[in-house]
Amino acid sequence: MNSIYDRCSIRKFKQESLKKSEINKILRAAFCAPSAKNAQPWFFIVTEDKEKLKELSEFSPYAKLLADAALGIVVCADTDCNPSLDYCQQDCAAATQNMLVEAKELNIGSCWLGGYPNEDRVQTLKMYFKLPQNIVPLWMVAFGYPDQKQEPKDKFKESKIRYE
Ligand SMILES: Cc1cc2nc3c(=O)[nH]c(=O)nc-3n(C[C@H](O)[C@H](O)[C@H](O)COP(=O)(O)O)c2cc1C
Repeated sequence: MNSIYDRCSIRKFKQESLKKSEINKILRAAFCAPSAKNAQPWFFIVTEDKEKLKELSEFSPYAKLLADAALGIVVCADTDCNPSLDYCQQDCAAATQNMLVEAKELNIGSCWLGGYPNEDRVQTLKMYFKLPQNIVPLWMVAFGYPDQKQEPKDKFKESKIRYE
């Protein structure tokens, strides 16, 4: 699957809405992720609302690019599904990577915007969406058609592998 190798973070987006079918595919890819005990402890808040994306771009100092994205997805843990936030986080990270790769497959750019374990960022998102106790917003992902040429970095390092 070349999209795994070809993906890279995109931080400049065209001012063009994504197709509903594309958003659906990205979300469906998230749900394909593995999860501990198959708990599927994720919940996704999806917004294309320009005003909200602008406001949300303030949730972290490194999320400014969200203001120009076509789509933002808040990846949340649902601790009703697995009370261990540590496990939820791992499962939600797997779901997030699936979304990034599926986006690339559709020629859509994306960028993961870190939140958890930064308490301020988690609280900002929790309050913004008035989320119940069990739904913990972990981070966001910005999506949009790329408005920049970006080559994937070659990050392969033989020195980081030990063969036994
Ligand atoms: C947990 C996590 C948090 C990240 N947070 C941010 C962020 O807040 N803002 C940003 O522009 N990029 C963020 N990134 C993207 C990384 O900077 C990027 O993945 C890294 O530089 C490697 O580049 P690549 O994605 O092009 O391979 C984050 C990535 C991860 C996995």
